[in-house]
Formats: sequence, structure tokens, C-alpha cells
Amino acid sequence: MSLSRRNLLGLDGMSAGEITTILDTAENLKEISYRPIRKVPTLRGKTIVHFFYEASTRTRTSFELAAKRLSADTVSLSASTSSLTKGETLIDTAKNLLAMSPDCIVIRHSQSGAPHLLAKHIPISIINAGDGAHEHPTQGLLDMLTIRQAKGRLDGLKVSIIGDITHSRVARSDLIGLNTMGSEVTFYGPRTLIPPAVESLGAKVAGSMEEAVADADVIIMLRVQQERLTDVLFPTLREYAQRFGLGMKEMKAAKKDVVVMHPGPINRGVEMSPEVADGPWSVILDQVANGVAVRMALLYLLIGPEAA
Ligand code: CP
Repeated sequence: MSLSRRNLLGLDGMSAGEITTILDTAENLKEISYRPIRKVPTLRGKTIVHFFYEASTRTRTSFELAAKRLSADTVSLSASTSSLTKGETLIDTAKNLLAMSPDCIVIRHSQSGAPHLLAKHIPISIINAGDGAHEHPTQGLLDMLTIRQAKGRLDGLKVSIIGDITHSRVARSDLIGLNTMGSEVTFYGPRTLIPPAVESLGAKVAGSMEEAVADADVIIMLRVQQERLTDVLFPTLREYAQRFGLGMKEMKAAKKDVVVMHPGPINRGVEMSPEVADGPWSVILDQVANGVAVRMALLYLLIGPEAA
């Protein structure tokens, strides 16, 4: 299996065939994480720089583990410990890193488009690990892998994404990826946190929590991103939890075989109650496990022996 691209900047423009290749590769590589010795030599001699300008637990750790399980060498850099604190620009930083001959830079940045800017200036693989409120393509891919495992397919499903849609790069990547694969996406949340004309992007908008939950095969709850809220866009977290949170009352109205997802980190008691987060419908930790497999697949396809 191979991909005819050097970078992963977003799911926008990615074909159903490419998505299927990545998910199938992830399925093949996943078992490595459950062997007694969780390492294969596939990327021996390759070097990957993980450059995280924003906090991360799941994405950063799973990229590191993915690289190590494929025997790549890794270097981690964060904004606070790099010379960015002395005023060095992103491009200068990247050019200096390039001078040390890495094969791939994985970047998370608070500014939308930062990975695209790097890709214009740097002739090695760039992977977007989340850029501002724009895209989080590896999260979109691991969400699709989790849905495919739970439902056996990615077409003809109804997926409801609930919460702060405006600030969510996960919502955007999930919408693009799921639409490409033939599923229907419905958004619901405070009106102030749903972008105008979102229907033109291919999403429906539910009029109530009941409507969002009732027919859904998959419910994806989003984190309230307090770090990106520059205005008072809903009254209080308590009221948010009552009106837009997923609790046992909502689960009773949902389909019996619905699965519940969340990209993490969860604000327990805000987006969802602990009973829902830890209940039998929750595949949240499957998402995390799949994160390692999807990132192994991307590293293999972008810089491995069969890379373009
Ligand atoms: N889902 C996700 O991006 O989590 P982190 O911010 O912990 O990486």
C-alpha cells in the first residue's frame, strides 16, 4: 500500500481511496503494539522531529510511540524550550531543523495554516498535528478507524457532533473525512458556537439535543475550548452541561447500539457525565489506542520504504 503524497496537512482534498489506504495500513500495523516486543525495524535510520507549540497528551505521546515502534529516532521540541522564546520565526526555526537532516516534522500550532507554511518552505514530510481551529487530520483518521471498527463501515452512517463547533479543528476534520466516506454529519451546540452557513460545508444542524441524539449511530462530544473562547459565548458551564451535555437522560433516548466518542481531554460533568464517559457505549479509549496505529500508518506511508 502506498500514498502519492509527501505531507499530511488536512483531510480536505483527500480521496476516499487514500483514507481507506491509511485506515487499512493502521489495521495491519496495530498488532505490533500488542506484541511482547513492540518494535519493528521499518523506519530504522529515519529521524522525526515532534514540534508542539500547544499542549498535548494524546497526540504527542502517540506520535512518539508510533515512531519508536517503527524504530525511527525522535526529537521533541516545545515552544517554551525552543529559541522561539528569543524571537526566532517559525520558518527560521524549521530551516535550522532541516539543516540537521530530519525526514519528517510533526507540528502542532495555535495558528491555522502553520503546517502549510512549513510545507511551502521545507522539502521534507510535514504532518499537521492540529493547527488552530482549522484541522486535526490525524484525529479525523483515528476517529474514522474507531467508527469503522465499531460499525463495520464508514458509509451510510448518521454521526452527530455536539459542542463547540466553531473552535473545533476535530469537528472540521471529522466532517470532511466522514462526508468523503459517505456518512451524514449533524452538528449541535450553542448557536454562538456553530459557524454561520455551516450547511454549505456539508453538515446538517439539529434544532435540539433530542434531535441530535435520536437517530445517531455515532455521537462525538467536543471539549469546551476555554483557551480559544475570546468572548462570553454561553452563560455558565453549569447551564452548558444542562443544555448541551450528554447524560443518562439523553442516552435513554439514543439508539441501543450508538457509540459515544470524545477526542479528549474530557471536561467531566460538562460535555458528558462520568457514567456516559465510562459506560458500555464509550469507545473513547479505543480512539486513543487507534491514535498510535493511525500515526504508525502515516509515518510508514509518508517516509517508509514505499513512500512517494
Ligand atoms: N485529541 C487530542 O488532540 O488530544 P491532545 O490535545 O491531548 O493531543
